[in-house]
Amino acid sequence: MKTFVCAVLVGLLCLPPSIAKESSAKVQVYSRQPGEVGKKNTLICHVTGFHPPEINIELLKNRQPMAGAHQTDLAFEENWHYHLTKHVAFTPQRGEAFACNVTHMGITKIYTWEPDM
Ligand SMILES: *[C@@H]1O[C@H](CO)[C@@H](O)[C@H](O)[C@H]1NC(C)=O
Repeated sequence: MKTFVCAVLVGLLCLPPSIAKESSAKVQVYSRQPGEVGKKNTLICHVTGFHPPEINIELLKNRQPMAGAHQTDLAFEENWHYHLTKHVAFTPQRGEAFACNVTHMGITKIYTWEPDM
């Protein structure tokens, strides 16, 4: 019985990724703490539900890429859709605009961070 369950699991995990349909990314841009001028914070860009796995994510400050951002390993959810999170430590200042730049299947979209300040 145990062997049978394992075989079923392996079978499920080994389905070819090609069965997955193309799917555009859903993107959420948020900060760990409420956005406050001069307060240390973490900017997070959470990208889910996309396929194929090739994607480019950049965090932007005033439309320039932010250095020192960390990206999680590519992970997949059900249906071979992938998700990734990119984050960077930041301290928002007045007049600064933050955003996440996501390029997937040749399409670039900019998602702006809405601080509640
Ligand atoms: C967003 O990323 C794409 C792909 O890397 C790049 O070509 C484009 O210039 C970026 N846009 C901005 C505003 O940085």
